[in-house]
Amino acid sequence: MSSPAPVVSVLLDPDWAAGTLVDDVRRGLGATPLRLPPKWLYDDEGSRLFDLITRLPEYYPTEAERAILDLHGADIAEACDATTVVELGSGTSDKTRVLLDAFDATGRLRRFVPVDVSEATLRAAADMLDERYPDVAIEAVVGDFTLHLGDLPGGDRRLVAFLGGTIGNLYVEERGAFLGALADSLDPGDWLLIGTDLVKSSDRLIAAYNDSQGVTSAFVTNSLTVLNRELGADFDLDAFSYVPFWDAHMERMDLRLRSEAPQRVSIPGADLEVDLASGEEIRVEISTKFRPEGIRAELGAAGFEVAHIWTDPADDFALTLASLR
Ligand code: SAH
Ligand code: AVI
Repeated sequence: MSSPAPVVSVLLDPDWAAGTLVDDVRRGLGATPLRLPPKWLYDDEGSRLFDLITRLPEYYPTEAERAILDLHGADIAEACDATTVVELGSGTSDKTRVLLDAFDATGRLRRFVPVDVSEATLRAAADMLDERYPDVAIEAVVGDFTLHLGDLPGGDRRLVAFLGGTIGNLYVEERGAFLGALADSLDPGDWLLIGTDLVKSSDRLIAAYNDSQGVTSAFVTNSLTVLNRELGADFDLDAFSYVPFWDAHMERMDLRLRSEAPQRVSIPGADLEVDLASGEEIRVEISTKFRPEGIRAELGAAGFEVAHIWTDPADDFALTLASLR
């Protein structure tokens, strides 16, 4: 029997973007260094640019994670008894198909729940998945994984997939809060499959975040376009340059926009005026890189027990399967 059309639940209230964006902008542009949270990178244009990033020759994480899923998808499906797969920050769910194929082959997969803030991307993915897995219920959730973990569907044994290294875009204290909230929303025995990019040479990292075609620069700069559109801000995009650098102490890429001249930016929607000095930077995203011992420690602190860590043949990226104690 085939499943009905994909169900899409919208947990973000219609004013979510306006309300949370204003709070984030007021908090972030009052901090030092000035910063913006990365979830605002993913409007329709940002989601399109991220998809282009995943195809860049310099940006290795996507293909490295795909290689792990190709090599070990069946091991993952065999190792855990989940009948529902939830995917946080699912985007296009492109690589996820490899995982779902492996689960589907076990005959156990009943339900797939992709969760993302980017509604158009999520709806397109849900339609694609519904066609590919007619016997699996696709229950997409337009939601924020920092706010809505408590509202995820329960009932079955679950595997929560958080792929791509997106956890690395959170600060360490945000990762702790996120993993704690995730543990609270799961039952003992439920599973987590988490992708993390690994520490490697700064040359390769910088190349991956400063590609020769300028796609990453456009992706990061798009955050200012979002503020101009949503909050009526007057950021002059041409007055900023993109400065990515490797922070060896924090083991993370730090992606910033530098104001090349002194300027006053007005952000009426947030009732804010920001004076930027020449050379002053706004941090738009961090992308933390991990070591296996760090992954174990952060998961362990939240109550997860690591069952296995797989890496790709070049040891660039790790995929960790853990269960909630
Ligand atoms: N998992 C995919 C996409 C990674 S890009 C991959 O591995 O390629 C990060 C995704 O997370 C984007 O689709 C973005 O819209 C989503 N995202 C970012 N912050 C989010 C949040 N707070 N809640 C839900 N989704 C979020
Ligand atoms: C989604 N996330 C894991 C990407 C990363 O590599 O940190 C976002 C990204 N930013 C610039 N390039 C890619």
